[in-house]
Amino acid sequence: MRESDRREYWTRRLREYDQGHLLAAWDDLSPDRREALLESLQAVDFDLIRRLYENRGYKPEIGDLLRNATSPRGPRLSDRADAARRRAAVECGEEALRGGRAACVLVAGGQGSRLGFEHPKGMFPIGPLSRHSLFQIFAEKILARGKRYGRRLPLALMTSPLTHAETVDYFERHERFGLGDDLHIFCQGTMPAVDATTGRILMARPDALALSPDGHGGMLAAIHRSGVLERFRQEGVRHLFYFQVDNPLLDVADPEFIGWHILAGSEMSTLVIAKQTPLDKVGNVVQVGDRLHVVEYSDLPQDLAVRPGLDGKPLLWAGSIGVHVMEVDFLARVADLAEALPFHVALKKMTYYDPETRTIVEPETANAVKFERFIFDLIPHAENAIVIEAAENDQFAPLKNAPGAARDTPEYVRDRMAAKCRRLLREAGCETPGDPIVEISPLFALDSWELSQRLPRGTRIASPTYFGPEGPIAVDAAGGTQGAG
Ligand code: UTP
Repeated sequence: MRESDRREYWTRRLREYDQGHLLAAWDDLSPDRREALLESLQAVDFDLIRRLYENRGYKPEIGDLLRNATSPRGPRLSDRADAARRRAAVECGEEALRGGRAACVLVAGGQGSRLGFEHPKGMFPIGPLSRHSLFQIFAEKILARGKRYGRRLPLALMTSPLTHAETVDYFERHERFGLGDDLHIFCQGTMPAVDATTGRILMARPDALALSPDGHGGMLAAIHRSGVLERFRQEGVRHLFYFQVDNPLLDVADPEFIGWHILAGSEMSTLVIAKQTPLDKVGNVVQVGDRLHVVEYSDLPQDLAVRPGLDGKPLLWAGSIGVHVMEVDFLARVADLAEALPFHVALKKMTYYDPETRTIVEPETANAVKFERFIFDLIPHAENAIVIEAAENDQFAPLKNAPGAARDTPEYVRDRMAAKCRRLLREAGCETPGDPIVEISPLFALDSWELSQRLPRGTRIASPTYFGPEGPIAVDAAGGTQGAG
């Protein structure tokens, strides 16, 4: 088709959807840029965008869902009261790791807008003393887990067009932190953002739509499309340990969690923490019949949030922390359910290019509607789904906010990391007088048992110390050894 015909076709088509403004700056564009714009239009499902925008005010009838809800019950990690069952779960998970039947999936495609870091969040130098990045810390956890069980663990790492190039470059510059061919990087899809008052698709530049990553739920389609899921299946991987890039406290591929999941015959299991107050801003995991659901805090009427369950304790005690174990076969099955994951709507402030006035607009208030899929919407589709409870101070300290916020800031996360390391040292029979800042590389020890093998009982750590792969190094508390680069 000639360029003028294509333009005419698109003018007509866009008019049908009231999106004609997308071609308003056409005459300013070079042939190359016109081509780029047409290609991005080609990728948009205009019917879907219209439907999503028109339904944006619709909230699923949470009341109906919760009328029959009960509190989810499940095992607690490291529960001393249940030692025999716990031992069985750990052994089952260890067996899966030894047999190469587990792999990790790390989602790192988000914009990290609250943190305000100018690189992908995974590059943030979070190590309390080492200043190692989130990516390096996770890579070391995965390497160490593989070493422990004599079988390297594959990692599927999801980026988005926003974070892809820099993430790939970062891993290559650091020799993939030792993960080699076990690292599979794949990129998620995007969705156009629309103007909140008109439903018109926003533009980033004269030749580009304003696209944002399609949510962590985009993982489902992207891991398929990339071929990584099929590859895992062929290599005999059956269980995927899914986690998010902002939580360095997490024990990645914890055999106990994987073991409880396998023993329950679950297709998708989720790690939860007990909420401190009913109105905590986390997703709420509830049981409805034989299914688990996650209800967002923003969708939850206050009277339901504070309602007691059948046992008199708060019904909604279980806070979701974005850590799941999923069966590979389950993901293959639900990928065919087109509507398995609904889109959620978020109102955000977004700078955009106005093609009609040829200007960049910096709005003062939220102006854009974004559409995102959430991975936890898969849970109701899973057979035998279970929750596993973790202690918050042991498994959850997410890096979300820039310094100055009340919690989830770099300082908050580093404090939690150091506190966990001190606890592990004490459990290993060491002393930490004065609570110095300590950091333990996963390549030195993954847990207190490994620490007890490497450090004599009674070892005193009284000043800031980084336990690197080769051993303890005293560090000046103010300084790190390495930056984000
Ligand atoms: P959040 O929803 O907390 O978003 O992501 P974020 O990008 O980290 O931060 P804000 O909200 O912009 O401040 C939770 C996890 O999901 C991943 C993120 O990278 C993070 O690991 N995620 C989020 C994706 O991989 N893709 C997305 O489209 C959204």
